[in-house]
Amino acid sequence: MKFFIDTANLNEIREAYDLGVLDGVTTNPSLMAKEGIKGHDNVMAHYKAICDIVDGDISAEVIAVDYEGIIREGEILAELHPNIVVKVPMIREGVKAIKYFSDKGIKTNCTLIFNAGQALLAAKAGATYVSPFIGRLDDIGQDGMQLIEQIVQIFSNYGYPTEVLAASVRHTMHLLQCAEIGADVVTCPLSVITSLLNHPPPESWCGILLDAASRPTCINTSEMRCLILEESFQLVAFKTNRRFSATVRSKSN
Ligand code: E4P
Repeated sequence: MKFFIDTANLNEIREAYDLGVLDGVTTNPSLMAKEGIKGHDNVMAHYKAICDIVDGDISAEVIAVDYEGIIREGEILAELHPNIVVKVPMIREGVKAIKYFSDKGIKTNCTLIFNAGQALLAAKAGATYVSPFIGRLDDIGQDGMQLIEQIVQIFSNYGYPTEVLAASVRHTMHLLQCAEIGADVVTCPLSVITSLLNHPPPESWCGILLDAASRPTCINTSEMRCLILEESFQLVAFKTNRRFSATVRSKSN
């Protein structure tokens, strides 16, 4: 599975690339605005700067929503660098534009995919990537991951070369579930990628430790490693100078 980073922040892009696991970048107008990048020339220069850092596909989104406008903007973006992928919204005019770009050999990322039918349309039009928005579906009580599963299945049924780029990824479980399902790409904030490095935080142990007066107490957890905690138990620890003694009792007591 490819890892893309979902940001326009050059420091974060550098950090992810330096880690050696980054395959590409996705941006959108709000991510550019967040970095204070305004005006056509600045936006173009920023895309070039991203392309100079990462050797991989860089999604650059069009603003226009009419066919001619999307084509005009997309062609300018595509000329910036061979790694630019023109990001086109899932709307009627967008589908037509994806077909146009595909015929011209320009790579596209069809964004704002919220159902499998839209993904199928984009694939038929020749999109290089489709971007289903997991997090935003979860936000409205629909199962974003189920959509990834559906699209992966449909593309595999017919051998579509379009890659499933899971977007709007909010946490590591999203990323791992995408990997289990077989999404081709995940795009996410840097924090989701770096969270994969983490061990269980010692604080999660401390959180359930109580002192003799039943107050939470800070415990040197390396000294407690020998204790195996089960969910049905709480650990009661007593601090004696620099040493700890502990008893384990059932929560129901
Ligand atoms: C990526 O291409 C999308 O623009 C992005 O993942 C959207 O994420 P959000 O739902 O957090 O805005």
